[in-house]
Amino acid sequence: RTERMNVAIDGPAGAGKSTVARRVAGELGYVYVDTGAMYRAVTLAALRQGIEPDEADKLKALVASIRIELKPGEQGQTVYLNGEDVTEAIRSREVTLIVSPLAANESVRAKLVELQRTMASERGIVMDGRDIGTQVLPDAELKIFLTASVQIRAQRRYQELPEGQRIPLTQLEAEIAERDRSDEQREISPLICAKDAIVVDSSELTIDEVVAVIIDLSRSKLAEAK
Ligand code: CDP
Ligand code: CDP
Repeated sequence: RTERMNVAIDGPAGAGKSTVARRVAGELGYVYVDTGAMYRAVTLAALRQGIEPDEADKLKALVASIRIELKPGEQGQTVYLNGEDVTEAIRSREVTLIVSPLAANESVRAKLVELQRTMASERGIVMDGRDIGTQVLPDAELKIFLTASVQIRAQRRYQELPEGQRIPLTQLEAEIAERDRSDEQREISPLICAKDAIVVDSSELTIDEVVAVIIDLSRSKLAEAK
């Protein structure tokens, strides 16, 4: 009998995690969970209430009072904050610029990690983020550390920017490098490659190629488990 497994995909911004994780989940018939979206939803809530990343007491109260839900759908997942669909709103530049310092907060992480573990408890989950293989699901059967050069990642993100929201490529690259640095150097659950993760560098790979690599690895893991 083939057991369902959990797949953890971590790595820096723009490496292709969400695109690839969604496709892999589709092919395996698993549920995709974008944990970055959860940190973004908390960030949106904090922005709306005028709470800064260093206001620990206020953040603690905030996470205790808000409700974040993910509903998997055809086009990935819909994100709800207190019942409101915030799927689009959490992608704003305002949110992107402040999400990393906010995600360094202990209460924010404790709340979201608990939620994420609950979501994955019955297995059959492909979860992407920064600390999935190291903290959230240390017993995930397959762990991928997906990376790419910062130049390539900035170019990919640049191409996604809507007309009116273009910023210079060099500025985007600097912002991504700064977010990487902040994610890598925070005290709680920094972005690092888990010891048992397989590193995939997507710099020279298409989305299809990355998906194929991960599907192959998944099938081997499932065969091993039989
Ligand atoms: O999509 P993008 O790569 O821009 O980022 P994201 O996955 O939406 O994550 C946004 C931010 O949330 C990251 O830069 C981290 O600061 C934080 N995050 C985290 O701390 N832990 C996770 N498991 C996922 C995201
Ligand atoms: O989730 P993460 O921030 O790691 O990256 P993403 O949002 O999935 O991917 C960023 C962009 O790079 C998307 O527009 C993807 O279509 C693109 N991409 C690519 O061109 N080639 C790859 N091998 C992976 C992603």
